[in-house]
Amino acid sequence: MAGALPFRSPALLAPMEGVTDPAFRDLVLARNPPEALGGAFTEFVRVVREPLPAKTLLGHLGPHRFPQPVGLQIMGTSPEAIARTAREAARVGAPLIDLNFGCPSKRALRGCAGSALLDDPGKIEVLVRSIAQEIPEHPLSAKIRAGGEDDTRLEEIAQAVEAGGAWLLTVHCRTRKEAYRDTADWERLRRAVRAVSIPVCGNGGVEAHGDLARLREETGCRYVMVGRAALRDPWIFSGRRVTRAEAARFLVEYFETLLSRGSTAAKALGRLKQLIGYWEAGGLVPDEAWRTRWLRLQEPEALFGELRGLAGLALTLEAR
Ligand SMILES: Cc1cc2nc3c(=O)[nH]c(=O)nc-3n(C[C@H](O)[C@H](O)[C@H](O)COP(=O)(O)O)c2cc1C
Repeated sequence: MAGALPFRSPALLAPMEGVTDPAFRDLVLARNPPEALGGAFTEFVRVVREPLPAKTLLGHLGPHRFPQPVGLQIMGTSPEAIARTAREAARVGAPLIDLNFGCPSKRALRGCAGSALLDDPGKIEVLVRSIAQEIPEHPLSAKIRAGGEDDTRLEEIAQAVEAGGAWLLTVHCRTRKEAYRDTADWERLRRAVRAVSIPVCGNGGVEAHGDLARLREETGCRYVMVGRAALRDPWIFSGRRVTRAEAARFLVEYFETLLSRGSTAAKALGRLKQLIGYWEAGGLVPDEAWRTRWLRLQEPEALFGELRGLAGLALTLEAR
């Protein structure tokens, strides 16, 4: 039986592999109060045949806990393995378990996981139920796309998630075929809301703070999830317009957090550049030529030094 969800705000940060690692999430959660950002999700955690051990799950949840819950997202096709992983995740403190039925990557499709399952609503129901029966008292959500090749089975997929026992249905309104296309059809979110009686979280195409309320008003979704726009501006949830220095400080802290948690400088630089590829907050990246120049810098100190300067901090690593 679906119970109360643990979010204090209807706006949620989407799971994004390669980006929403604990270091990034912690910075976003710290900068948006629980009344503005209700919760976040880990990057997807792939479960193949064996259930995952506590250490792996804790690694994805990260060392810090915030008032906002962070859901642990699982992707897999073995009901036993995902159910036992979910039990372990709940035991080590994951406040919510989320099932991924949206990943369009070739690897997911080859393993018949993620969005491959959109063509098999019966299997979706079995997988959701395997967790709902294993940990019936624990909040459980599932994230789908509007369909595989097209959106004709949207209602069937949504109802499979509900029948399996999920407490929340998140719908990315693009199909697998549409991947990450610019347009997002919110009519599909309205259809999902009409198809089920559990709460629906609408996702896809939120570009600005004002869209958070607009999506909910126009579609009837109780929750709204933000993906790439939160990489462009992590303050999108509170709607605060930050200065250039504040924006630079976020990126400096991101880099430092990655290093302090064991990343090499080269790896941290890669992650930082991935974020800079999206970044718009604070007018920090004035134009595309500037972005390209930053993305081409090879030495961590060069980019980090520039960001520290813009953040109004001492220029070098040594000067800390
Ligand atoms: C880089 C990247 C990684 C993603 N990784 C995941 C993931 O691990 N799990 C998942 O359910 N969705 C993942 N997604 C999809 C997002 O959660 C979201 O559904 C999608 O970006 C649409 O929302 P948007 O239009 O607000 O960006 C990813 C998206 C991006 C851009």
